Amino acid sequence: EKGGFEHFMLKEIFEQPKSIKDCFRGRLIADEAKLVLGGIRDYATALINAERIVIVACGTSWHAGLVAEYIFEEFCRIPVEVEYASEFRYRNPVIKEGDIVFAISQSGETADTLAAMELAKSKGAIVLGVCNVVGSSISRVSHEGVYTHAGPEIGVASTKAFTAQLTVLTMIALKTALRKGTIAEQRYREILVDLENIPKKVEKALKTDEQVKKIAEIYKDARNFLYLGRGYNFPVALEGALKLKEISYIHAEGYPAAEMKHGPIALIDEEMPVVVIATRDSSYDKIVSNIQEVKARKGKVIAVVSEGDSLIPGMVDHTIEVPGTHESLMPMVSTIPLQLLSYHIAVMRGCNVDQPRNLAKSVTVE
Ligand code: F6R
Repeated sequence: EKGGFEHFMLKEIFEQPKSIKDCFRGRLIADEAKLVLGGIRDYATALINAERIVIVACGTSWHAGLVAEYIFEEFCRIPVEVEYASEFRYRNPVIKEGDIVFAISQSGETADTLAAMELAKSKGAIVLGVCNVVGSSISRVSHEGVYTHAGPEIGVASTKAFTAQLTVLTMIALKTALRKGTIAEQRYREILVDLENIPKKVEKALKTDEQVKKIAEIYKDARNFLYLGRGYNFPVALEGALKLKEISYIHAEGYPAAEMKHGPIALIDEEMPVVVIATRDSSYDKIVSNIQEVKARKGKVIAVVSEGDSLIPGMVDHTIEVPGTHESLMPMVSTIPLQLLSYHIAVMRGCNVDQPRNLAKSVTVE
């Protein structure tokens, strides 16, 4: 049932070109510039008129929420707050009638996320689910929702669910933005075509596997890792760090690259691997400076860059090239080598990647 792969996690990483396609099948019709999202039909207008959006989730799903924050704010011009479900539910949050609350969850059973939704509902919010498991508790409690259709995710570390969540959230944001008039039609069309091409780009990003494995070999005994990104790649840094800690038990931290100088830079020495997600986007020049700051302190830099980057390879210890796309879609591509890196390091350290210690696939207790 692992389809020839050694672990479910690896199988699920490699399934992503297909799971992303399954996610937009029948929903994204790029040549007609159409998005069909039947799951949220009744609340599409409420979304357009929303004064604010709150996203509640945990773990990797919370990271997908952070990417969605940037996407909704950029395209729809609606203010977004992303909340850990466990914090939101216990702090008497301000929710007004008509606020939109998205709950993102692979399993659809996460206790804190479920409780956060129920609280939001009781205060008059419209609660929309983005779930993978059909018929799960969260999907049943939502007013409406859009399934991610990534297929069963067995590995405890979430991989294909994350990229499918990003696909769904991007589609919702683009559709809302078009109807709201906050995105130019030409731009909307271009991004739809880019989205349709994401599976091919993910396919290409998966070809870095052998190269990533070699890098894993070099750093598998590190005690700490730092992951840095800016803009759309900041949540990718958080997600890369989470993947590494949960399956390899190496301590890792993700940071917005510019925050580094407010503390974590003190950790950097010649022993410290720093993974920098530095693909070509609007924060490229800034992240190049951050790489220089790390190199000036002799940190080892593993950079994820766009194909054809001619500047960064000369500055860093290792580069991993991934295909470019619109910056809002980049997390779906840039996260791939980080999933592979954590996987290979964990295997080399003899860890049980599909069932890491102390973790459960769905966290049904708070
Ligand atoms: C990380 C991971 C967890 C989950 C979190 C939320 O790889 O698997 O952090 O993302 O427990 O789970 P769901 O999405 O099922 O609500």
